[in-house]
Amino acid sequence: MALDYKTLVETYGTPLYAYDFDYIENRYRTLKEAFGGKKSLINYAVKANSNLSVIRHLAKLGAGADCVSIGEVYRALDAGVDKYKIIFSGVGKRDDEIEEALRKDILMLNLESEAEMKRVEAIAADMQKEARISIRVNPNIDPKTHPYISTGLHENKFGVDIETAKRMYIYAKKSPHLNPIGVHFHIGSQLTELGPIKESAQIVADLVRSLHAIDIDIRFFDVGGGLGVVYKDETPIDEREYTVAIFEAIKGMDLTIMCEPGRYLVANAGAFFTRVLYEKRNEGKRFVIVDGAMNDLLRPSLYNAYHRIEAPGKKGEETPADVVGPVCESGDFFGKEVMLPPLEHNDILVVHSAGAYGFTMASNYNTRPRPAEVAIIGDETRLIRRRETYEDQIRLEKEYLIP
Ligand SMILES: Cc1ncc(COP(=O)(O)O)c(C=O)c1O
Repeated sequence: MALDYKTLVETYGTPLYAYDFDYIENRYRTLKEAFGGKKSLINYAVKANSNLSVIRHLAKLGAGADCVSIGEVYRALDAGVDKYKIIFSGVGKRDDEIEEALRKDILMLNLESEAEMKRVEAIAADMQKEARISIRVNPNIDPKTHPYISTGLHENKFGVDIETAKRMYIYAKKSPHLNPIGVHFHIGSQLTELGPIKESAQIVADLVRSLHAIDIDIRFFDVGGGLGVVYKDETPIDEREYTVAIFEAIKGMDLTIMCEPGRYLVANAGAFFTRVLYEKRNEGKRFVIVDGAMNDLLRPSLYNAYHRIEAPGKKGEETPADVVGPVCESGDFFGKEVMLPPLEHNDILVVHSAGAYGFTMASNYNTRPRPAEVAIIGDETRLIRRRETYEDQIRLEKEYLIP
């Protein structure tokens, strides 16, 4: 981020999220180019960062959207994503969400169980519609990532096994209210090894071959998201090797490749800015208490995730410190044993790689307003979501206040 952070925090305050839109564009183009001339659609995983301006930015570049709630579908539509580039996934869709997705006529619903397929069929029948569907296959491959973000093993709740998927496709093909057009897998997030993706793609491509052989016309091959990024010293998957692995798996078939990157596009576009409130020591242990907290950026507390933290412009001998927020939980930290120079009240800390699963996981815990969000576009900054106020937080309770 080529920006003067001081001006940024003086203008917009802290805690603050800022996203480099040029970086996002660059990431999108790099991945798109890796698909070369092959038919491909990058469906941005809206859950990673669902700010409308972020989605719109990607939509303008040609991206579609991978959504996991009707709210995300609305966001994608409001942000200007073409409805035929929107897919709706998720293990548990409510009837009203299914109905609304069919009404909005999005590209397809991605189904994760036989029971869900029957619901979609019944709802489509009531609406006298035909639902375009894909089925999420769980290839039972270990993605070698954090267990909380591993999704492609039978022990995980996601998708269905190959045999069930096949049975579902055969059923769907016969139904006047279901139109099976896609297949999907997503084995986990923050993947840094190509092997598991390659293996999954081959298993799922074989399924597609067997479906084509019985006249089930699968046209979309969705390889999910999960491309890992550098938080510390990871070696991410090379984009070209990634696409070549997919091309090899589907060799000989005429398919549109879809992928659903979230983190890849936005994680390293974002930083979280927070101000030092105080330093303190407990029995010699150093704590830096900041004005941001786990309600703003949950990843360290939730997954023990690493985020690089720096104190720009500060000099002096660095010593280890736990960087913690004001929330009343021992798990409220951004980093442990972070090497930092001596800090004073109002110094700024930058928590890097905070563009994905940052703001989207923010809450109002401890009645803390969620932070503002800013876009950095070239040399300019634009507020893309204002800081919440106390009034925003109580609005939905105030009129219902029991006298
Ligand atoms: C179905 C699906 N697609 C895409 C993604 C995006 O993953 P990532 O941000 O790792 O690319 C997720 C993340 O949980 C997901 O569950």
